[in-house]
Amino acid sequence: MAAVRMLVLRSGLAGLRPWAASSARFMSSSPSFQFVEVERRGAEGSVAVVALNRPTALNALSEALMSELGQALDAAEREASVGALVLTGRGRAFAAGADIKEMRGRRFPDCYREDFLANWDRLARVRKPVVAAVNGLALGGGCELALMCDVVYASEEAQFGQPEILLGTLPGSGGTQRLVRAVGKSLAMEMVLSARRLSAHEALQAGLASRVCPQAELLDQAVALAERIARCSQVATTMAKEAVNAAFEVGLAEGCRLEKRLFHASFATRDRQEGMDAFAEKREPRFTHQ
Ligand code: HXC
Repeated sequence: MAAVRMLVLRSGLAGLRPWAASSARFMSSSPSFQFVEVERRGAEGSVAVVALNRPTALNALSEALMSELGQALDAAEREASVGALVLTGRGRAFAAGADIKEMRGRRFPDCYREDFLANWDRLARVRKPVVAAVNGLALGGGCELALMCDVVYASEEAQFGQPEILLGTLPGSGGTQRLVRAVGKSLAMEMVLSARRLSAHEALQAGLASRVCPQAELLDQAVALAERIARCSQVATTMAKEAVNAAFEVGLAEGCRLEKRLFHASFATRDRQEGMDAFAEKREPRFTHQ
């Protein structure tokens, strides 16, 4: 655990060193949460681990939880020393979906008038890289959250599913769209129309996840990846994420044009100069995110 330093924001451990200054800034901008935990991990606390923490309800995504998640993401996005995020769940679920008990009394007029779920795609709008560490059930909105992350690691106990059809409804936060892009039409249709769940290994085979590991290793492996990403230039990782995500939005020619423009733009950064100088001088680069 030497390199894995942890700060539990909600516990108020502001005095921890050696990165007390940046942590204190992060904390001062972060409210305390009931349903979400945020920890700083990795060298220099460069990784923000955001954990959904409502285990008695299998991390069902209530409005309060989603509001806190949005605030935690805002804070991690603002904090310059955070280079990447990990999203995970406490207990046996990543998240068992939107809170059905909270939703059951809703009617169309208030859903529409209040634009129910409007803030649910906050995660998809995070500009820093996000690794999902799917520790258990990822159902409905939980599967949709995993699909909004940039990389999905799963434990052997993880299961992915879109069971909304059993409730007389359908995915409402991008599930039908992102799942098709992740696993193709036939498997996405099978999952959405029949509520069949995928095991972690099926998710790996289908391309929904890029790694399956034992539960006990999941978080460390996700943090290790996030830390590796965080060591790179933040300007470059943000550009790379924007370019890859463009593949979901635009045609090939336009996507390649955007990629080329971002590649050209990287030559305006000090980090691009530093990266190439370090290679030529046979040393490690020292990125300043400028
Ligand atoms: C509210 C939930 C919940 C949910 C579980 N719980 N899922 N509460 N909303 N989505 C609560 C249970 O009510 C129970 O609380 C406790 O968590 C433990 O769950 P159990 O059912 O007792 O556990 P188990 O028998 O192991 O079954 C696990 C399960 C089942 C298979 C995951 O709970 C289940 O089917 N949950 C619903 C999954 C689902 O349909 N998700 C999609 C939701 S719709 P108590 O108090 O009784 O102990 C959705 C739409 C998204 O996500 C639209 C866009 C955002």
